[in-house]
Amino acid sequence: MDLKEYIREVKDFPKKGISYKDITPLLQDPEAMKYTVNLFMAGLKGKKIDKVVGIESRGFFFATLLAERLDAGFIPVRKPGKLPYITHKETYELEYGTDTLEIHEDAIKKGEKVLLHDDVLATGGTALATCKLIEKCGGEIVQCNFLVELGFLKGREKLKNYEVKSLLDYL
Ligand code: PRP
Ligand code: MG
Repeated sequence: MDLKEYIREVKDFPKKGISYKDITPLLQDPEAMKYTVNLFMAGLKGKKIDKVVGIESRGFFFATLLAERLDAGFIPVRKPGKLPYITHKETYELEYGTDTLEIHEDAIKKGEKVLLHDDVLATGGTALATCKLIEKCGGEIVQCNFLVELGFLKGREKLKNYEVKSLLDYL
C-alpha cells in the first residue's frame, strides 16, 4: 500500500506558499489506518512503552490507537489553558512570535518509557518542546514517531538527541 496516495496536498493552506499535508483521506479509510498502525508497530518492535504522548490536535488520532496496541497509557500534550490540573509548560519560538505547550505534571512517572507521536514533523519546534515536557515529568523518550516528515525543514536536526522515525518523507 502506498500511503502517500492517502495524503492530500492542499496548496496555499493555511497560508500562501505552504503545501498542507491533509491526513483526513487516510483517517477515513479503515484499511489505510490499520496499515499505518501496523507500520508504526513494526518500527517499535521489542521496545517497551509505558506512555504514548500525543500532541494536540492531529497527533491525538494515532497516539491513542498506538497506546491501545502497545498496552500503554495515552497522555495529551495540549495548547495553553486547555488542561485543567497543574501543568508543566514549555514555550518555543515560531517564525513570528512564540507558542506554548502543556502537560499534566502527574502524567508520567519518573523513569517511565515514553513514545512521542505527532502527525507531522516540520521545523521540529513542537516536538522538541514536547520532549522537554516529557523530561520535566521524569519520562525517558524511547522514540519520536511521525506519519509525515517534511525533510526539507530539517526538524530532525532539532531532535538529534532522540530516535526519530517517520513513515513518509517529503524532501
Ligand atoms: C502542525 C502539525 C505538528 C506541527 C509541526 O500542528 O500537526 O503538530 O504543526 O510543526 P513544527 O515541526 O514546525 O513545530 P498545528 O500547530 O498546525 O496544529 P494542529 O495539529 O492542531 O492542526
Ligand atoms: Mg499539530
